[in-house]
Amino acid sequence: MAIQYFEQERVFKLDTPNTTYLIGVVDEEGYLGHLYYGARLENGQGLGYLLRTEEAPFVPSKNNREKSSFLDFFHTEYPTGGVGDYRESALEVRNADGFTACQLQYQDYEILDGKYDIPGMPATFADAAQSSHAQSSQATTLRIRCVDSVLNLEVILQYGVFEDVDAITRSVIIQNHDDSPVYLEKVLSASIDMDMEDYEMLTLHGSWARERHIQRNKLVYGRQSIGSFRGESGHQEHPFIALVSPDTTQEHGSVYAMSFVYSGNFIAQAEVSQFDSVRLQMGIHTQGFSWKLDPKETFYSPEVVLTYSGNGLDHMTHTFHNLYRNHLIRSPYLHQERPILINNWEATYFDFDREKLLAIARDAKDAGIEMLVMDDGWFGKRSSDDSSLGDWFVNEEKLQGGLSYLVDEVKNIGLKFGIWFEPEMISPDSNLYRAHPDWAISIPRRDATQSRSQFVLDLSRPEVIDYTYEQVAKILRSAPIDYVKWDMNRQLSDLGSVYLEADKMGELSHRYVLGVYELQERLVTEFPDLLLENCSGGGARFDPGMLYYSPQIWCSDDTDAIERLQIQEGTALVYPLSTIGAHVSDCPNHSVGRTTPFKTRGDVALAGTFGYELDITKIPDADRAMIPEQTAQYHKYHELIREGTYYRIASWGTNHSYDCYMVVNQDKTDALVTYVQVLGQANVHTKKMKLKGLDAGATYELEGTSEQYLGESLMNAGYIVPKLWGDFQSILLHFIRV
Ligand code: DGJ
Repeated sequence: MAIQYFEQERVFKLDTPNTTYLIGVVDEEGYLGHLYYGARLENGQGLGYLLRTEEAPFVPSKNNREKSSFLDFFHTEYPTGGVGDYRESALEVRNADGFTACQLQYQDYEILDGKYDIPGMPATFADAAQSSHAQSSQATTLRIRCVDSVLNLEVILQYGVFEDVDAITRSVIIQNHDDSPVYLEKVLSASIDMDMEDYEMLTLHGSWARERHIQRNKLVYGRQSIGSFRGESGHQEHPFIALVSPDTTQEHGSVYAMSFVYSGNFIAQAEVSQFDSVRLQMGIHTQGFSWKLDPKETFYSPEVVLTYSGNGLDHMTHTFHNLYRNHLIRSPYLHQERPILINNWEATYFDFDREKLLAIARDAKDAGIEMLVMDDGWFGKRSSDDSSLGDWFVNEEKLQGGLSYLVDEVKNIGLKFGIWFEPEMISPDSNLYRAHPDWAISIPRRDATQSRSQFVLDLSRPEVIDYTYEQVAKILRSAPIDYVKWDMNRQLSDLGSVYLEADKMGELSHRYVLGVYELQERLVTEFPDLLLENCSGGGARFDPGMLYYSPQIWCSDDTDAIERLQIQEGTALVYPLSTIGAHVSDCPNHSVGRTTPFKTRGDVALAGTFGYELDITKIPDADRAMIPEQTAQYHKYHELIREGTYYRIASWGTNHSYDCYMVVNQDKTDALVTYVQVLGQANVHTKKMKLKGLDAGATYELEGTSEQYLGESLMNAGYIVPKLWGDFQSILLHFIRV
């Protein structure tokens, strides 16, 4: 049983294959305490002592006598503000009279088969069959009901507990049973208190074209947080946080991690208190957030995924990969070979017409590429990034004969066809803006800040959602389009909506995200066979929320193979390789000016959804000649890379010289190792890589050679990498069990 309640001790025990999570109820006051999260405990009896209600620092015989010091120390399951816990709260409520305290008391609970879902929002699900994959597994839901009887507020803490993966999800439901509205000023989705054990905080930071670099720092007293109030998860910080013991490596150490199934503003925070406890939290960022909850209304928080690994980062990564592959991504493409695409963005930018695209398509077909994606610039009068967003009709000067003619021609050549949209945006220079200036998010009488010469549509308005959806759907209905790249190229500012009343203005950012989700839900419902790739100025909205709608996300606008090593390493820490949009581009690279071998570009892009982003009619002959070999390589390895278990072996971000990772299939018969010598060095010893995930007792042959190795020696002693000559050199090593 994944969830048990021990009546006598009033303890809830939540079990995944290797972890246990304990929640307890304090008898008299009905406080809900966090007792434990860590390695699995087989026995649930006698664990009530972990509630620690009788311990220093407070001395009174009854908690109520010195409530404040008790609350400021107690390991609380869901802390509320205003009554004496001075650490960061998870819930802040203001009532109609302006008072701001909230105190929750446990009422009752229910345990339900299956996994809860969240109306209007992405969430993990129990049954892997939903993801059109055969393997099925179960999850169980715990709902703990608490109330604040002064506010007449009900707060339901819900937990999803998975049986096949070490993941527990949390989300909160808040219901107003009062006759007056209340204002939710802060609703975090998850909070856990633990004893501070010298933890370090591991997060993913970045910028445009430099997304998700791993950063790890020692925790100190006080609050240390990352977050976004940009209206999307963002390039800069990522909705993922882990606390790791100082000895943590890929294989060793304690790791507590949280990942947010949400695509908007977020905060992830660790706070070390005066009493040496640490509070780890995640939820919607409080900056600018406020939600008016009218009588009888309900608010749902997005979902946080928690995982604990006692075996270092590899196990954490495998948990997230398995959870997201089997219990989050719904696309029918999840377990299918994705078409090898060629995208014209870096090939032409805005400077293209039908003939240019068809010339690319013809050469692409000859080289073994399977789909042409027409990027930005095909609509309105768009020939640079300063107009036409919102005017989703074909620019017939560029595409003579219209879209369906182009699509037909591309299909005649033998390629699939994909198209780019940026549906959430509106250019000031557009017919749409001239007709509906108030559809842009902005504050009346204030000049709204433009970014990339565009504004963001006010998706809190149902008519804007309807209009936007129809613009995209009408194009997709007009021609047999196989793929959509859904882009989002600016972050939100000037947060004003003429649709929302003054006391609901703080809802705009969250309502915006709900609007995005509604649009994408409608899209995948009406066009179930469409391959959807999300994108946001590269990888600014690469998060689990978007993966609920699209099986792949464009990882970064930086396509340089060497920069990509670090970006893809940070991304793969949480997300399966099958979700990572990765393309081969031309050199000198458009982001950094570096020239790398075409082979290396291909080998690095292979660890993702493989494709090209170049003008195939213009690249050097020698490069073009390698494409058939690379596409064949993709066909050979795509299943292994998509479904296999990923291991990080070495990271050039830390060793400043070489990078190595590998993927092993489920039955350990097939393993692909990628090794990149980033910088050649003189007079150094040959590198030896200790492989992982193989069958220790089996013998493996290195394909293309007659070399045979025992699994145990490859894993414990290591494989000696052949000497490579020069910078930016790569090698793929395919080991097959004999
Ligand atoms: C940002 C994307 O990341 C690029 O790939 C490209 O689609 C541009 N937007 C187009 O404006």
